[in-house]
Amino acid sequence: MTSRARQPQASEERNEMTAVTENHKTTEQVENSGPVHGAELVATNVNKVYSRAGQKFHAVEDVSVTIKPGEFVCIVGPSGCGKSTMMNMATGLLEPTDGELALDGEPIRGPSPDRGLVFQKDSVFPWMKVIDNVTYGLKCRGVPKEERMSIARKFLAEVNLTHVEKSWPKELSGGMLKRVAIATAFSNAPKLLLMDEPFASVDYVTRLQLQKTVLDLWAEHRLTVMFVTHDVDEALTLADRIIVMTNGRVVDDRRVAAERPRRLEALSTPTMLEHKASMLQHLGLPTEGGA
Ligand SMILES: Nc1ncnc2c1ncn2[C@@H]1O[C@H](COP(=O)(O)OP(=O)(O)OP(=O)(O)O)[C@@H](O)[C@H]1O
Ligand SMILES: [Mg+2]
Repeated sequence: MTSRARQPQASEERNEMTAVTENHKTTEQVENSGPVHGAELVATNVNKVYSRAGQKFHAVEDVSVTIKPGEFVCIVGPSGCGKSTMMNMATGLLEPTDGELALDGEPIRGPSPDRGLVFQKDSVFPWMKVIDNVTYGLKCRGVPKEERMSIARKFLAEVNLTHVEKSWPKELSGGMLKRVAIATAFSNAPKLLLMDEPFASVDYVTRLQLQKTVLDLWAEHRLTVMFVTHDVDEALTLADRIIVMTNGRVVDDRRVAAERPRRLEALSTPTMLEHKASMLQHLGLPTEGGA
């Protein structure tokens, strides 16, 4: 007899997609409703200059931003504007040419479990079963087996993947792999979660499910999130604050005070449409009736 746990019913999968995110709160509500686990990220006059074919190229130019503890911030901008470069500097994997990034006052000098990562390409080890992927970081940090299994199972349950704990990554769909990556990131209790176009390669419905999963976990664990996306609607659905970058610079930084949960129709309210039109202008895209 195999010991596979029961598969979720089709109705459960649908519920996950359509359930309203009733518990979501704005950053202010989250801040005011108890301790925030997230850390403050401060970037001060950050520059990154790459060398390309013997030429210097300024990929990030004099960026100064402060992301408050518990804030959900999206970074939007066209391809090549420096979003991933900013993100990679926040991970500590890439050093700024000039300027500094600090987390809760500590300069970022290299990777740390304080910072969780979910990137566009799958951040799941194909040679490890799902449960081993999720527990890997905890194991590396010496967390005892029983405790790490319990943490991993809690987060696998939160992303609705209990039934594939013993599966290999190759047996999972793209959306499920993303959920493994999310469970892995949250298992390490990061103070800052860095997500670089994590849902760019998944279909629309799966993307909505994954957005809900991340919002649920963010509201529950109150960490700081920096989320890169090309998609203005995705940013308006997720963020309390949206930073627009073009050509390596921050050209717009706005607060989205819309109530949560934000259903799909919330994107069509006059305020949201104004946000969208204004951001598209910053991105240099023509808008209907716009300038
Ligand atoms: N290692 C590197 N060496 C040289 N140039 C680089 C390097 N990494 C990135 N760049 C350049 O820096 C610029 C910004 O790249 P980055 O990856 O940050 O863009 P992005 O905004 O994330 O784009 P996308 O939306 O396509 O992912 C691009 O012009 C890119 O070619
Ligand atoms: Mg990128």
